[in-house]
Amino acid sequence: MAERLAELSERALGLIAAAGSEPALDAIETGVLGRKGELATLMRGIGELPAAERSGFGARVNEAKQRLEQALSARRAALVAERLASELSDSRFDPTEPPLPVRRGHLHPITQVRREIEEIFMGLGFDVVDGPEVETEEFNFDRLNIPAHHPARDMQDTFWLENGQVLRTHTSPVQLRAMLAAQGRTPLRVIAPGRVFRNEQPDATHEHTFHQVEGLMIDEGVSLADMRGILRTALSRLLGRSIEVRLRPHYFPFVEPGVELDMRPAGSDGPWLEMLGCGMVHPQVLRAGGMDPERVSGWAFGIGLDRIAMARFGIDDLRWMMSGDPRFLQQF
Ligand code: FA5
Repeated sequence: MAERLAELSERALGLIAAAGSEPALDAIETGVLGRKGELATLMRGIGELPAAERSGFGARVNEAKQRLEQALSARRAALVAERLASELSDSRFDPTEPPLPVRRGHLHPITQVRREIEEIFMGLGFDVVDGPEVETEEFNFDRLNIPAHHPARDMQDTFWLENGQVLRTHTSPVQLRAMLAAQGRTPLRVIAPGRVFRNEQPDATHEHTFHQVEGLMIDEGVSLADMRGILRTALSRLLGRSIEVRLRPHYFPFVEPGVELDMRPAGSDGPWLEMLGCGMVHPQVLRAGGMDPERVSGWAFGIGLDRIAMARFGIDDLRWMMSGDPRFLQQF
C-alpha cells in the first residue's frame, strides 16, 4: 500500500508539472484527488492493513494529499500568469496605451450663482419655489397691475403664444402663485429663481432668454428698511465682501414705492453698480394674491442672474451664457 501511495504521488506530481492548460490541470485534480479519485480508492483499501499500520498510513495519505494540492495550486498560478501574458501580448491589445481622459462635467456659471443665492436666502429663512415658464397673460401682467394697453407692457417685449399665453417676461408672476399657495398665511418668505424670455435684440448685456431670481417677503409691519437690510446682507455674502447699497426711485407697476438698488464695496467712493429692481408690493397685487393689504405689507425684488454671473466671473458678453460653447464653459 505504501509503495502504491509513493508511486501514485510521484506520477501525479509528474502529470501536474507537465499539464499544459488549466482544464488539463482540472482533470488531473479530479482523477487523483476527487471523491472517486485514485487517492480516495487507495484510502478505501486501508481496511486491508494490519490495525497497527492504519493510522500511520492515513497520515501519509494526508501528507501526499497536501503536497499534491500545493503542486496543483502552484502550477495553476503559473498557467494563469502564462495565459494573461499571452493575452496581453496579443497585438490588438496594448496594455501600455494610456487610458482615454475622463472628462468631468461641472456646473454652468449661472447654476453656480443660482445655487449660492438659494443657499444664502435659505439661511435667512426663505423657501425656494418654482413657477411655470409658460404663463397666462393674467399672471404675467394683469394681476401684477399691468393692464392691457398700459405703456408698462412695452417695457418687456413679450413672446406671445398662439393660444394667448406668454413666455413669462419676468419671475414676478411667481409672487402671485406663492401668495395664493399661502392662502393668506404669513409670514411668507420665498425666492423664485428661473428662466425668463423677452423678444429683444440680443447684445452684450441683453439676451432673449435669461434668468432672474424673484424674492418676496410678506408679514405684518414689513418695511423698505427690512428689505434694504436683507438685500445688503445677501449681496455681501454673495460677493464675499461687505457692500453698501443705495435705493433710487424707479417705476414698476407692481410695487409702490418702486426702487432700483445700486451697490458698491463698503467704504469705497467708486461708481454705483445697478443690481436689481425692488419695492413694496402694491396693495392691488397683494389683493390679487389673496392677501389683506390692511393687515400685511410686503416687499419684493427681481434680480438678473446673468448679469451677476458676468460681474462675478468677469464675462464681457452675456451671449456666451446660452451659447453652449464648451470653449466658454470649460473656463469656469
Ligand atoms: C423686472 O423684470 C421686475 N420684474 C423686477 C422687479 C421684481 C421689480 C420685483 C420690483 C419688484 P427689469 O425689467 O428691470 O425688472 O429686469 C430685472 C433684471 O433683469 C435687470 O436688472 C437685469 O439684470 C435683468 N435683465 C433685464 N432684461 C434683460 C435681458 N434682456 N438680458 C439679461 N438680463 C436682463
